[in-house]
Amino acid sequence: MSLLRDLIHAGGTGGLNWHVHAHYSRKRWQPTVQLIEQFLAQVEPQSDHLLLMGGSAGWMMPFSWLARFKRIDAYDIDPLAAWLFNLRHGKYLTSTGVTVVHHREDALSRLPEILQAHPHACLWFDNVLGQHRYRIRDEARVERELNELKTTLRGRSWGSLHDVLSGPTDGRLLPAGLNVWTHHVTAKESTDAAFAQRLLASVGAKDVWQDHLTLKVFAPHTPTTWLPWSFKANYWHWLQAGWQCA
Ligand SMILES: C[S@@+](CC[C@H](N)C(=O)[O-])C[C@H]1O[C@@H](n2cnc3c(N)ncnc32)[C@H](O)[C@@H]1O
Repeated sequence: MSLLRDLIHAGGTGGLNWHVHAHYSRKRWQPTVQLIEQFLAQVEPQSDHLLLMGGSAGWMMPFSWLARFKRIDAYDIDPLAAWLFNLRHGKYLTSTGVTVVHHREDALSRLPEILQAHPHACLWFDNVLGQHRYRIRDEARVERELNELKTTLRGRSWGSLHDVLSGPTDGRLLPAGLNVWTHHVTAKESTDAAFAQRLLASVGAKDVWQDHLTLKVFAPHTPTTWLPWSFKANYWHWLQAGWQCA
């Protein structure tokens, strides 16, 4: 029963529902995938071993980023993630000599053990931290755990792409490949209320928006990039991406 529930929802953040939506949204998501690729292209990972957290099937993951590693250990709670990831990326990664090892595991609750098992790897949290609040339905605990990550990860080279805000919009379109949609600010500047208002106005936000409790994932001085994501035609997310060197 629990496997069936996981196949469909994977804790409410993945599973069959997510994969079907991702498959049919590929075209609309493409401009955001391009922005993610641009962000990752300027990252210096400092290791050829990557721990990919919540990578799912890598629907929004550019090949160029994956191909920069010799070994990738991919962690996801979704029972479909490994199979679909291999289907989408396996052939290309094998041909470029990248070894991928999949683990069906909770990457957040098991983080200390995972770090211990791979002491020299860098980490990429692949749009997973913004989902924490939907699995752990205690806001104070979620904020505390997300804020503490930077301490647990001290000494590592790591980065994250995560939802910060999401909600209904007036249905405007995301123009393809336009960098004008991204913003480059420090993590501290990101917490400014006027900045959030600018983000919301630019996508035609209306009604009530969700706060994913991720605003303090990065240390205040960290440079971050903000990317819009038209998750549905009239329901958008603002994603924040950042990388911290060891
Ligand atoms: C929004 S999807 C990520 C999509 C992925 N970046 C892509 O390009 O397809 C979030 C993923 O995180 C996984 N997930 C959520 N919480 C997790 C956790 N604590 N540990 C491991 N995986 C988790 C979900 O199963 C889901 O596959």
